[in-house]
Amino acid sequence: MAELERKDIQGIVVSAYKHLPCAVFLLLRVKNAQPSRTWLAQMATEVMASEAKDETLSINIAFTYSGLKNLGLGQDALDAFSLPFQEGMAAPYRARLLGDNEENAPTGWDWGAPNNPVDVLLMIYGKDEATLNAALEREQKALPAGGVELVKILSAQRQPNTHEHFGFADGIGQPVMAGTGNKQRQLQRTHHATELPVGEFLLGHPNVYGVIAPSPAVKAADDSQNLLPEIPADAAGLNAEAGMHDLGRNGSYLVFRQLAQRVAQFWQFLDKATCTANGASNPGARDRLGAKFVGRYKSGAPLVLSPEHDNPALGNENNFTYYPKDPDGLKCPIGSHVRRCNPRDSLGPDPATALNSANRHRLLRRGRSYGPPQENPLVDDGAERGLHFMCLNSDIERQFEFVQQTWVSNPVFNGLDGEVDPLVGDLLRGDSIFTVQAEPLRRRVEGLSRFVVTKGGSYFFLPGVQALKYLASLRS
Ligand code: HEM
Repeated sequence: MAELERKDIQGIVVSAYKHLPCAVFLLLRVKNAQPSRTWLAQMATEVMASEAKDETLSINIAFTYSGLKNLGLGQDALDAFSLPFQEGMAAPYRARLLGDNEENAPTGWDWGAPNNPVDVLLMIYGKDEATLNAALEREQKALPAGGVELVKILSAQRQPNTHEHFGFADGIGQPVMAGTGNKQRQLQRTHHATELPVGEFLLGHPNVYGVIAPSPAVKAADDSQNLLPEIPADAAGLNAEAGMHDLGRNGSYLVFRQLAQRVAQFWQFLDKATCTANGASNPGARDRLGAKFVGRYKSGAPLVLSPEHDNPALGNENNFTYYPKDPDGLKCPIGSHVRRCNPRDSLGPDPATALNSANRHRLLRRGRSYGPPQENPLVDDGAERGLHFMCLNSDIERQFEFVQQTWVSNPVFNGLDGEVDPLVGDLLRGDSIFTVQAEPLRRRVEGLSRFVVTKGGSYFFLPGVQALKYLASLRS
């Protein structure tokens, strides 16, 4: 396999920056192309590529469709991006398929909807608050007045022990992109690694089907400084001919959804559903039902390997499939969040084929929690908190949207009837129930509500470093 072009690949693709626990995301608008491009030329020198690891600070950058357009990218090149990216997350059809309705509807979003669009996402990761704040101040000052406008600052911080706000360990089940060298580390940490071709996450490279992940290209004449690589004959794809220059190479699509978590509502619901006959709380049963919703205990231990009780020794364990140990969901409910988001070998017709098909829909998750930790999960303190859900993929339709629509919000997923993912499913498509498979009788938990609400989001293009320089060089 060819070496990764690490100098060209932004760092966030290869690293989740766990060594940089503080993060802030700047949402920006391009008001005037020329000063924005001058600013971008400077940013291209500051962006962290994946060839090196900076122990203190890393900056990455991504653009929406309107961002590329406002920077002056020509219509031919814009048309060569994938349709979901062109249309955007808030387009009515896409909002419908993602379950962004009622409270989740784009009309109520804080950012990313047609009435409050964003063009640029600047991601800053720091080793501590002081480093982060200094970088934030610097980057804000560097925004050219009248050129780039600050829309919103989204703060993020890792929760203690990398637990998300409901209290569960997060960031365990992840695919590995070939060539990154992450396989060994993943094997050590989780005892399992599914290595997928580069083209599952980066445009312009062979994907899981052995074809080049479609990558937007520009005419050679439009790249007079030869900043972008030429597309060779054997790499010509759906929307790019040999000889054109590859704008997408080493870039990725970054899905960003700001998902607010109603922690007290979640735990109060579980508390009520598990209280004793005289109405008293039953913390053990409450935690067990919460784990059934997720498919892992708070420690991260998978239910399929430890069905009766939490086992923190298995906190990072990822070496399991569902079919041999739990085909009927008696250990890990079929509708649990992790089983829906990655059903592994459980969807038939036979386990090996099912595993292969499931691996065509994998996401490289890069999310960060935001908002203060909740001291008592059962008491609403009024603060907003949640997850800045972020993932990288080369095909938004086949990867992120498929997971969200066909697995997470599918009321008849794997033989179920009338229910959706208890955390992030589209409630309108289900009957607000969750089934815990059991023998002799299953248990149906009723009356689920929205524990997670979409507050904003966009589809971004995370370019390679050369593409970034190209965008900065545009003249129009
Ligand atoms: C606030 C919203 C969310 C919360 C609290 C949440 C929480 C979790 C937790 C606790 C895990 C288990 C730990 C792990 O394997 O990393 C997990 C796994 C996962 N989640 Fe989410 N999640 C949320 C939203 C989403 C969304 C929107 C998607 C995609 C549509 C998603 C996709 C996944 C995937 C792919 C896994 C790994 C499953 C595996 O490989 O076994 N999550 N999530």
